[in-house]
Amino acid sequence: MLRVGFVGLGRMGRGMARRILRGGHDLIVYNRTANNAADLASEGASVAPSIAAACADRDVVITMLADDAALDEVALGAGGVRDSLTTDAIHLVMGTHGVAAMHAIEAAHRRARQTLVAAPVLGRPDKAAVGELGIIAAGPEAAVHRCRPLFAVMGGRTFDAGASPAAAAATKLANNFAIGCALEAMSEAFSFVRKFDVPPQILYEVMTEGLLAAPVYRVYGKIIVDDRYDQAGFTVQLALKDAELMAAAADSVHVPLPSGALLRDRLRDAITQGNGEKDWAILARVQARLSGLDEED
Ligand SMILES: NC(=O)c1ccc[n+]([C@@H]2O[C@H](COP(=O)([O-])OP(=O)(O)OC[C@H]3O[C@@H](n4cnc5c(N)ncnc54)[C@H](OP(=O)(O)O)[C@@H]3O)[C@@H](O)[C@H]2O)c1
Repeated sequence: MLRVGFVGLGRMGRGMARRILRGGHDLIVYNRTANNAADLASEGASVAPSIAAACADRDVVITMLADDAALDEVALGAGGVRDSLTTDAIHLVMGTHGVAAMHAIEAAHRRARQTLVAAPVLGRPDKAAVGELGIIAAGPEAAVHRCRPLFAVMGGRTFDAGASPAAAAATKLANNFAIGCALEAMSEAFSFVRKFDVPPQILYEVMTEGLLAAPVYRVYGKIIVDDRYDQAGFTVQLALKDAELMAAAADSVHVPLPSGALLRDRLRDAITQGNGEKDWAILARVQARLSGLDEED
């Protein structure tokens, strides 16, 4: 049994924290908006009044936060994780963050004689709720090993990305980038067939019963066919954050990303249309509008 602190009970964090609680670990949670911790409290988790209280006496403190700015504030701000973790404790970062942020936070923890492990996750909130996330873990071997009982209750499979937390961040960003490109290609394909009066359901079946029989096409293709973007699993806003982190990291190592530029433009277009909080599959509507279909977003 590990003593775990959990900071960030958003769409993903809520399900992940619940899995840790049900896995028999000693859990204390903190969320900036306190109301979002009520469900877990009623199920037996302790609720901390501050980040410092969520870190006191913990073996591992998990953060599952929206973006680098939130992580910077929570980890490195006064009274944050770095100031509050005991020596030798682990900060387990499970949100999707940039490579540069991982380097900065790793160095800050090292100076405080604490350890950073990065373990960004694969899968949407439904997978988080049932403990079937994919987990990309990187950090010092002993620390990653110490986190494995937590990975076991949150995820189905752990991918070991090496000793540098930045490597896990890069792997996660690359995967999201490839999903985004698949989504954009699907969006273009759906607009195209509609011009020939092909019902979207038919293209969906052709793709998912053929060579594209993969979850990315099944999950996002279904959302596009149903034209249902309000129940966001992953928002346009977060997708743009990842696309921009990928661009910055690629720039730093001189890797051209022509598809990335297009993906970012399309995500920005969706935000301009007021759809930043919708599911990022709404790229299909951006493409439909640009194709002269569905004038209204
Ligand atoms: N959703 C997905 O399908 C998915 C899949 C894989 C990975 N991810 C990644 O996982 C992370 C979390 O995603 P999510 O969908 O759970 O996001 P979310 O629902 O927007 O939750 C974000 C969490 O961050 C907290 N937060 C934001 N800014 C903060 C700040 N300045 N200080 C303290 N707390 C702050 C929020 O607290 P409040 O409640 O107070 O706002 C909330 O707990 C992101 O990095 C995302 O890219 C998401």
